[in-house]
Amino acid sequence: MARFLYNFYAAKIKKYIPRGWFRFYHASRRLAYIHLPQGSSNYASNDLEKYFRNNKSNLIHKGEHYFEIYDRHFSRFRGKDVAVLEIGVSHGGSLQMWKYYFGERAKIFGVDNNPECKKFEEERVNISIGSQEDRSFLQRLKKEIPEVDILIDDGGHTMNQQVATFEEMYDHVKEDGVYICEDLNTSYWKEYGGGYKKPGTFIEYSKNFIDALNAWNSRDEKTLPVSEFTRSTKSLHFYDSVLVIEKGKRNKPVHRMTGTPSL
Ligand SMILES: C[S@@+](CC[C@H](N)C(=O)[O-])C[C@H]1O[C@@H](n2cnc3c(N)ncnc32)[C@H](O)[C@@H]1O
Repeated sequence: MARFLYNFYAAKIKKYIPRGWFRFYHASRRLAYIHLPQGSSNYASNDLEKYFRNNKSNLIHKGEHYFEIYDRHFSRFRGKDVAVLEIGVSHGGSLQMWKYYFGERAKIFGVDNNPECKKFEEERVNISIGSQEDRSFLQRLKKEIPEVDILIDDGGHTMNQQVATFEEMYDHVKEDGVYICEDLNTSYWKEYGGGYKKPGTFIEYSKNFIDALNAWNSRDEKTLPVSEFTRSTKSLHFYDSVLVIEKGKRNKPVHRMTGTPSL
C-alpha cells in the first residue's frame, strides 16, 4: 500500500521535475553509498551490498539490512558449484545479483507466477512459471530442477504461500543447505493474512520450529516427537523480517565431561 501510494504521488510530481533529474539523483546516491565510511548507517558492509547499491541493471527490491544476513549465511558457497533458487523474480535483478555474487560455477533458478518473468532467463539463469501456493506445481518443479543449496522465498509473501513453499520445498534443499523466508513483516499485516499471534501466520508457524529443533530433549514423544526436521536442521536464525534455517545432518545430542572434578 505504501509503495502504491509512493508510486502514485511520484508519477504525479514527476512531470513538474526537469528530465534527467531522477537519473542524476539516483546516480549520486549510488556513488555516495559505495564511498561512505564504515560506521555510517549507509556503509556497504560486503560485496553483495556494494553490488546492490551500485546496481544499474535490472531492478532489485530488498530490505537494506538483508545484505549483512545474506553474506553471513551465503559466503561459504561463493565460487563453488552452487544451485540457488529464488521464488519471486519480479524484474530479474536479484537473479543477476546472485549470479554475480556466487560466481561462474553457480546455477540460478527463479520461480514467478508472472509469465512475463520468463524473459529474464539468461545463461545460468533458469526461470519456471507457476504459483508457489500451488503444491502440484512445486512437486513438478522438484522433478525439473536439481536439489538446491540455497532457497530464498521472496515471492508473494502471503501466509499460505510461505507455508506451502516451506512444506513442499524444504526437502529439496541439500543436506547442508540454507532456507530463507524473507519479508516476514507480512506476518503482522492483515492484507497478507497476518496479525500479531494470529494462528497460521508464518511467524507463528515457524515458532514451532524451535520445539522441533529441540525434540530430542522432549520427555514426551507423543506431543513432541523427533521428526525429519529435527534430524536435518542445525540452526534457526530469526532476524527482523527474515528467518534463516541452516540445514545439517544431526544425531541425538550427547553431553560429556572432560577434566578433573575439583569440588
Ligand atoms: C518482492 S517481488 C520479488 C523481488 C525480487 N526477488 C527482487 O529481489 O528484486 C515478488 C515477486 O513474487 C511474485 N509472486 C507473487 N505471488 C506469487 C506466487 N503465488 N507464486 C510465485 N510468485 C509470486 C510477483 O509476481 C513478484 O514478481
